[in-house]
Amino acid sequence: MNSLADFIAGIPKAEIHLHIEGTLEPELMVTLGKRNGVSLPFPDAETARKAYNFSDLQSFLDIYYQATAVLITEEDFYDLTFAYLKKAASQNVRHAEIFFDPQSHTNRGITFETVIRGIERAVVEAHSTLNISTKLIMCVLRHLSEKEGLKIFDKALAWKQWIAGIGLDSSERGNPPEKFRNLFERAHEEGFLTVAHAGEEGSAASIRNTLDTLHVNRIDHGVHCMEDDTLVAELVQKQIPLTVCPLSNVRLKVFESMKQHNLKAMLKKGLCVTVNSDDPAYFGGYVNENYLEAANALHLNRNDIIQLAQNSFTASSLSTVHKQLYLDEIDRYASSRNA
Ligand code: HPA
Ligand code: ZN
Repeated sequence: MNSLADFIAGIPKAEIHLHIEGTLEPELMVTLGKRNGVSLPFPDAETARKAYNFSDLQSFLDIYYQATAVLITEEDFYDLTFAYLKKAASQNVRHAEIFFDPQSHTNRGITFETVIRGIERAVVEAHSTLNISTKLIMCVLRHLSEKEGLKIFDKALAWKQWIAGIGLDSSERGNPPEKFRNLFERAHEEGFLTVAHAGEEGSAASIRNTLDTLHVNRIDHGVHCMEDDTLVAELVQKQIPLTVCPLSNVRLKVFESMKQHNLKAMLKKGLCVTVNSDDPAYFGGYVNENYLEAANALHLNRNDIIQLAQNSFTASSLSTVHKQLYLDEIDRYASSRNA
């Protein structure tokens, strides 16, 4: 019989909570820093990796935004995105819904066009050479104003053919969803998929508020929903997906350790939870490491893994037909390994 690690590695899965800027491995950061003549706070990759000790979300975001300074040209965004898609495909990720944060680039004088052209070129190439499909979700930075968010939203409309959704990320504390009510109204009018980070550091009330004011299709993280039984019942009944990122939650001290994580409890409630890597270059693992570390600490079994992989496709924005093809593939995979 295969080990659980092999089972996890081989199962077809989707990753739907992934910040492309969070896939900037220290080695690539150093290479791009040299290529573009950008000096970094870290002399080498090893020192950078050692400095990735975070006390909370903000302490991570400070470093994460600083590191984006090396991303200058279309080629840089291509290299970053292709490296992620190659890694994801090697872990049997068959579909990725990728966040990008254009404001962290346009605010440094990089054009929207440079960012999206580089990312899209990698997406197209990976689709034909690596058998992985991708959708792009443009995130708005919640620590900035809605006015600034609307400016980037207007820019994005010119590239609508390449952008499937609008998301909301960055510092949850002090930046409630109400701040972005108008922007999300426009996103709905334009027919975008909508998602928002909520209940990562924020409470169950922040998730409730996000659903009531922004009417999003998915909640990113959402782990604090478990504080409110009524909210949990509604999330279960409506099967609103919660894109959980176990290693991120541990590294950003949302949970003290993986053993304290509530992923298994969420699954048991019947919530549509998925497992994702968030910012793998900073949190110590890609999607398979997230499945495996959670499985080991929380004693997840094969059925839990199957459920999580099924949820990853159900929760995605793929068409019903495509979802079913992947669900059938998971069925075949599971039965071939039970024989
Ligand atoms: N939370 C909020 N914003 C982010 C994150 C996160 O985990 N990662 C990158 N931007
Ligand atoms: Zn995130």
